Amino acid sequence: MQSLLSRAPRLAPRHLPARAFATTSARLQAEPKPVLMKEFKIYRWNPDEPEKKPTLQSYHIDLNQTGPMVLDALNKIKNEVDPTLTFRRSCREGICGSCAMNIDGQNTLACLCRIDRDANKDMKIYPLPHMYIVKDLVPDLTLFYKQYKSIKPYLQNDNPPEKGEYLQSPEDRKKLDGLYECILCACCSTSCPSYWWNQDEYLGPAALLHAYRWIADSRDSYAAERKEVLQNEMSLYRCHTIFNCARTCPKGLNPAAAIAQIKLQLATE
Ligand code: SF4
Ligand code: SF4
Ligand code: FES
Repeated sequence: MQSLLSRAPRLAPRHLPARAFATTSARLQAEPKPVLMKEFKIYRWNPDEPEKKPTLQSYHIDLNQTGPMVLDALNKIKNEVDPTLTFRRSCREGICGSCAMNIDGQNTLACLCRIDRDANKDMKIYPLPHMYIVKDLVPDLTLFYKQYKSIKPYLQNDNPPEKGEYLQSPEDRKKLDGLYECILCACCSTSCPSYWWNQDEYLGPAALLHAYRWIADSRDSYAAERKEVLQNEMSLYRCHTIFNCARTCPKGLNPAAAIAQIKLQLATE
């Protein structure tokens, strides 16, 4: 004997009449998305095989079976095709800065970079340029972080408020806009020709943007000392205002303008 439940008619969602629901679901089943294969050429180098030169390895991915961003394609390759492919990622929404790499000639974040859906064009993916490579798309950022540390990226003030927080006017707070948003992805520094050639001594746009972020902060009382350490031939003045840094920043920031502000302050003191 049939139970009451099994004899009950299937319910369509409330906002759709039963016939419309049946037609929509039939159409969804009947029309699988067409295959749209795209070639990704990806830089590979394995430190465990140092005798082998770096190569570009090809992967073909159906764009209708992956998400819209380059990071989606990389994840698909790693999860379903080749687990040895190595790259950094974490937040997948442009916040952590981990997935910075060079995509079709531009330093950017893979999670914010849309895949060009023209299947006739391949996409070339390299690690950030002019850096030592740990493996595949992973650059060694040891020096980059050391330079960031060197600008003392924290509040310095010998006269803290007797109680409560450091206060700041809305006008002074506004001076930090365009600076505090930096996620230290290194896209700017690794696109800067001066940084490529003088990496050991020139701090590069990312560290200098942060240096200015603290110089400009009304709650910090060490602006003079911060500028003093930049007053030499190499740390700051290797910037020749080429503006690659501002062109490439995936967060829309302008490190060249911050560097210009430091130079201006040093020149007018
Ligand atoms: S300034 Fe832009 S490109 Fe440079 S490290 Fe910060 S977020 Fe990245
Ligand atoms: S403006 Fe300065 S920091 Fe930016 S890319 Fe050019 S030389 Fe490098
Ligand atoms: S994964 Fe965090 S910025 Fe791309």
